[in-house]
Amino acid sequence: MEPDHCGTMCELVLRYPEVKIVGNAKTFAMIRQFFNFDIDSRAVTVNESETLCTGKHTLKFIMAPMIHWPETMVTYDTTDKILFSGDAFGTFGAMNGNIFADEVDFEHEWLKDARRYYTNIVGKYGPQVQTLLKKAQNIEINMICSLHGPVWRTNIEWFIDKYQKWSTYTPEENSVMIAYASVYGNTENAVNILALKLADAGVKRIAMYDVSVTHPSEIVAEAFRYSHLVFASTTYNTGIFCNMETVLLDLKAHNLQNRTVAIIENGTWAPTSGKLMRGIISEMKDMRILDNTVSIKSSLKENQIEELDALAAAIVESLKTS
Ligand SMILES: Cc1cc2nc3c(=O)[nH]c(=O)nc-3n(C[C@H](O)[C@H](O)[C@H](O)COP(=O)(O)O)c2cc1C
Repeated sequence: MEPDHCGTMCELVLRYPEVKIVGNAKTFAMIRQFFNFDIDSRAVTVNESETLCTGKHTLKFIMAPMIHWPETMVTYDTTDKILFSGDAFGTFGAMNGNIFADEVDFEHEWLKDARRYYTNIVGKYGPQVQTLLKKAQNIEINMICSLHGPVWRTNIEWFIDKYQKWSTYTPEENSVMIAYASVYGNTENAVNILALKLADAGVKRIAMYDVSVTHPSEIVAEAFRYSHLVFASTTYNTGIFCNMETVLLDLKAHNLQNRTVAIIENGTWAPTSGKLMRGIISEMKDMRILDNTVSIKSSLKENQIEELDALAAAIVESLKTS
């Protein structure tokens, strides 16, 4: 029971003494850790697949461990066929009055934050999400009420399909996301040239992010979205530039897998960022690192354009077969 959910619940509990709290034993143990009020006199303990009839509504409880806390349980109202999905199918963002997903432009105004929410909060637990989706396949769902964001009552399959992709680490875009770190601008120059070469070769929807000005959560979300990732970093105190290192470690922590990766390094006296980036990425599952690592000594020279051509060609070739 996360404290953000619990806060709202506690307000209800303290304001209305007759309100009961339904949860499993682990939920109550966690509430006791966070709060001091008497939970035991209010607790109704339920377990996986148990039902609770409140009169008109019969609620069924389905365990969804690690989505994204260990005790997580979702609730299915068998009467109105509503899935109260906890954090699953949630999104960052505040409501603007409309509460249903079909009343807002979800694809253009909410999807980016829904992806950022999923990948950063739940992304590590793809197999657990798969288990929940399989359980959900067997029940008729008219509505999904998540704890965060709009309520789904139409086109639910569209959002479930996004969850299928995210939880199986399947890219949504067969295209290229470039994330770069550059102190003096030379690495940035190299990735700009690479991006133009990719565009000239017909690659569409290329995304490019400067890790110094983009929050890591946005790059994590985009890395889940794209099939091909380019990481380019200046060498920084014999290491990877710190923001880039954070991004790569974050991607590893979120279990990102099954991507094709290209690396560009830069350094003036001893470029090491390429080797170090390769080290982090090669510890991740099913990552295909292209051989054509480009190593820049301070600034890209005319004779290295060929190397960028070869890298662009390798990425384009790989896009064709993925
Ligand atoms: C704080 C700092 C530390 C650096 N440490 C290294 C280093 O350990 N090894 C190295 O070869 N270059 C190091 N450099 C130099 C840069 O990596 C190098 O100049 C690179 O070409 C910069 O690329 P950029 O123009 O994209 O920032 C360092 C630069 C700065 C500002």
